[in-house]
Amino acid sequence: MAIADRLVPQTDAAPKSDSHERNLAELAARHAIAEEGGGAERRERERKAGKLSARERVEFLLDEGTFEETDKFVTHRATDFGMAEQRVPGDGFITGYGRVHGRVVFVFAQDFTVFGGSLSEANAAKIVKIMDMAMRVGAPIVGLNDSGGARIQEGVVSLAGYTDIFLRNTLASGVVPQISAILGPCAGGAVYSPAITDFTLMTEKTSYMFVTGPDVIKTVTHEDVTKDALGGAVTHNEISGVAHFMAHDDQECLATVRELLSFLPSNNLDDPPRKTTQDDPARADVALDTIIPTESNQPYDMVVDVIARVVDDGYFFQVQEHFARNIVVGFARMAGRTVGIVANQPAFLAGVLDINASVKGARFVRFCDAFNIPLITFEDVPGFMPGIQQEHGGIIRHGAKLLYAFAEATVPKLTVITRKAYGGAYCVMSSKHLRTDLNLAWPTAEIAVMGPEGAVNIVYKRELDTTVRRAEAMWPQGKAFTEEEKLAVFEEARKEKVEEFRERFANPYVAAERGYIDAVIRPSETRRRLNSALDMLATKREKNPAKKHGNIPL
Ligand code: HXC
Repeated sequence: MAIADRLVPQTDAAPKSDSHERNLAELAARHAIAEEGGGAERRERERKAGKLSARERVEFLLDEGTFEETDKFVTHRATDFGMAEQRVPGDGFITGYGRVHGRVVFVFAQDFTVFGGSLSEANAAKIVKIMDMAMRVGAPIVGLNDSGGARIQEGVVSLAGYTDIFLRNTLASGVVPQISAILGPCAGGAVYSPAITDFTLMTEKTSYMFVTGPDVIKTVTHEDVTKDALGGAVTHNEISGVAHFMAHDDQECLATVRELLSFLPSNNLDDPPRKTTQDDPARADVALDTIIPTESNQPYDMVVDVIARVVDDGYFFQVQEHFARNIVVGFARMAGRTVGIVANQPAFLAGVLDINASVKGARFVRFCDAFNIPLITFEDVPGFMPGIQQEHGGIIRHGAKLLYAFAEATVPKLTVITRKAYGGAYCVMSSKHLRTDLNLAWPTAEIAVMGPEGAVNIVYKRELDTTVRRAEAMWPQGKAFTEEEKLAVFEEARKEKVEEFRERFANPYVAAERGYIDAVIRPSETRRRLNSALDMLATKREKNPAKKHGNIPL
């Protein structure tokens, strides 16, 4: 039914004194129609699927009573396929601004009950409008996505609408934080807007993202896959790395968006908000002094054992927690200020740097650098992951991304080497040579080209062979020099060399003698040293050479 037909009947005969009332009644009726969305039946279907309505989502996201809606009466312009008779005010997208923790945030929410939340020329223009305004005032943009993609009835104008949004996503990147919550379907080219934004959150069971769905895949590649296995929250959080957070339901997802925003500045010219804390900036956790296992191949948990003992109130907000778990990234606070943490995780794959870990780390470092968030790196890394799969997968160019990201970052950078810092990974993980402001090492640090075992096998190979030959020559006559005995001699000599190498190189002092490490500290001093450095670096100014943009190895 057309909108006019749904309004309270108007009569010209009404007395003039009633006209204000009539106007207000019409306004209220128009609001009510807009708020109906696609109708009670469709709304109920969504509720049964465990989803909040688009309006509830916006209310849940923003501080109570702060939402100011824009373009509530915009309608689509299509006429084909009987569309002229199916106009819903707002056209299925809710747009506007409000506040999160008191700060302005722009928001759009797609309402699946109106043409499956599909994107039209008209509602794309609504998004474009708030994105432009967000850029003018320097405020974050949050998209609550729940859409069947391009509105099929509108054809190319819908594709044009998407592309207008992609362009603005790109221009806004690094200027204002952009966050995408995926709370329903997100398919086709529609996935590329979230992909350009800084953080993507997904709800378990109710959301999915893919470029082509199961049916197309079946036709083209003959593979059978469900929507969930193809592009559900678990898939994108654990396997593809497309998503950064996974939530049980809409409420948890929106609460996570709010929390994420609490760590971020409103734009690239602002500093992140500082929170008051009772946690003493110089607090010493003596457990840190003995936390590193005496055997250097023993794991420990970098998050639980180290990060949580250093940051304010032991609270660490992990990003991409389920992806490439050999590296850990996320936000925490130090004396109330937001810091970005990048840490190798010895408890998973010994904290090795592989393709996924490099990409995860690089993207996070670049985000923090773009938004004035100091970086703290906790390092315990045996090196880059060896293997054919990694080499053929391009570990060279992917590993280079992390190197590039740390090298170009000009925010305050602090590094703590807790144990291993070997080879290329030493260089990459915010080493002194990449303009890191403060490089600390614990006495347990091992800084060398490679681990003692590998090093001895290469450097002392000839000498060890000679030792075995000498032992054979001096072997008592008449007694066979068996393979086991040969091996035992070799191993004994090798162990000696490994110890010698460890003593000589696998420590922090060679690097400290060169000034590559600013201080070797008691681990329990870490929090105090980092906080003091962050205070000192508060006025840091550093610029990269003027250029159009760099060419990060993509
Ligand atoms: C118009 C759409 C629509 C669309 C869904 N609807 N998608 N209307 N354009 N793209 C409508 C349906 O007609 C239906 O209307 C209502 O939304 C709910 O859809 P259902 O199919 O009943 O819901 P469900 O079973 O939950 O399935 C959801 C779905 C499916 C998986 C999203 O609707 C679907 O496959 N839609 C098409 C997805 C798609 O191929 N989009 C184009 C992608 S390409 P009624 O009136 O019955 O309630 C693309 C290009 C972007 O997006 C390029 C950017 C560069």
